[in-house]
Amino acid sequence: MSHGAAELVEPLHRLIGHLEVPGDKSISHRAVLIGAICDGETRITGFGRSADTEATVDAVRALGVEVYEHGYDTLRVFGNGLRGLRAPAEPIDCRNAGTLVRLLAGILAGQDQRSFTLTGDASLSRRPMGRIADPLGRMGAQLETTDGHLPLVVHGTRPGAIDYALPVASAQVKSAVLLAGLYGDGETTVVEPAPTRDHTERMLAAAGAQVVVRPTSVSVQPAERLVLDEVEVPGDVSSAAPFLLAATLVPGSELHVHGVNLNPRRTGFLDIMERMGSRITVYNRREIGGEPGGDLEVHSAPLVGTSVGAAEVPLAIDELPLFALAAACARGKSALRGASELRAKESDRIEATVDALRGLGVRIRGTDDGFTVTGVPGRLRGGRIDSRGDHRIAMLGTVAGLASREGVRVAGADAVTVSFPGFFDVVAALRRQAAVEQPDRA
Ligand code: S3P
Repeated sequence: MSHGAAELVEPLHRLIGHLEVPGDKSISHRAVLIGAICDGETRITGFGRSADTEATVDAVRALGVEVYEHGYDTLRVFGNGLRGLRAPAEPIDCRNAGTLVRLLAGILAGQDQRSFTLTGDASLSRRPMGRIADPLGRMGAQLETTDGHLPLVVHGTRPGAIDYALPVASAQVKSAVLLAGLYGDGETTVVEPAPTRDHTERMLAAAGAQVVVRPTSVSVQPAERLVLDEVEVPGDVSSAAPFLLAATLVPGSELHVHGVNLNPRRTGFLDIMERMGSRITVYNRREIGGEPGGDLEVHSAPLVGTSVGAAEVPLAIDELPLFALAAACARGKSALRGASELRAKESDRIEATVDALRGLGVRIRGTDDGFTVTGVPGRLRGGRIDSRGDHRIAMLGTVAGLASREGVRVAGADAVTVSFPGFFDVVAALRRQAAVEQPDRA
């Protein structure tokens, strides 16, 4: 990925209008991966097209699965059945996508008598893979990491079932074990230290697998065959979050975001914002693609500081850099604890967030497992931040720019394509809308 483009994000005097965000990234990955091991056709609508999810489409194609693309966001995946993935001669490049490499490893563990090599870009190659090699190895698959990292070789087998207590709250690791459990010789159970996103459980149940969900654990039975048919992907609340925060921070804003996934395992950021005094309301609550969803309306509001602890971390994991910015503009002190997992993301997101906001004049201090922030209500000064090639940090810098006095130059802004290629088109549309509303100020 190029880190070249430095985008100047100028302040916006208010955010007005209606927008939609791309299909949920987690659900899009899962629809393609599970569709690939289904019998027959899976039709995916509202697919969240992005660099990450395109890596997943390319990966299943390399494994012999036919995927047809209709227009921008409809896919038809013709699954090869549970055990029908072909071992390609070349390594499978998972690029920047952690969800792809972890979930795919679980599926490949069950492809008996075939071996697969998984690689990734520089960022993914720094991320820990021992966390999947360990449980999948205990199930009988042989996984060779490179000192706990990529490249990863998966030797497929007929896995045995396990009861596995996750050492870290990770939906990716949970999903890898559950997917391998489809091939097991009995019930596989994963115990979670704290609830994490449950899209895999929901989609496997929808595909006909026997899944039992308990408050702190989930079990899956070996499956004969899976059939998904249709997956309607709701909008990604993680892609809505930057705009919800920008509208909260910029006075006089009123923004609507339509068709967003509101699975309670994903809405921790909304709960944190509510505690801080935000004015975000849900209307038109409805089910979208088997998940709770709805439309969101946000008005700007003054914020107060709050604390976020370990139990809340997985529910807001990808939005925690945005929480730091909310805290920077809130009255009083805020703290994040129990979030050392942030150091294992696309970048070390504790360090990246602290450096980014310090550069904008924020009083923020990093700790081993989070940060503390002393907020100052009102607009930030502005300055320059470096995305470090991390899409969530590029979005953090952009929101900071919109809500600043002097603008923020975001180096490596093009990282947004990892999850939200149209992100800056939405920003541009909001500027045009603001100009229509108040031509002299935009
Ligand atoms: C994801 C799980 C989370 C999250 C990531 C997507 C998923 O990672 O940060 O963006 O789709 O399962 P972990 O499970 O490693 O916390």
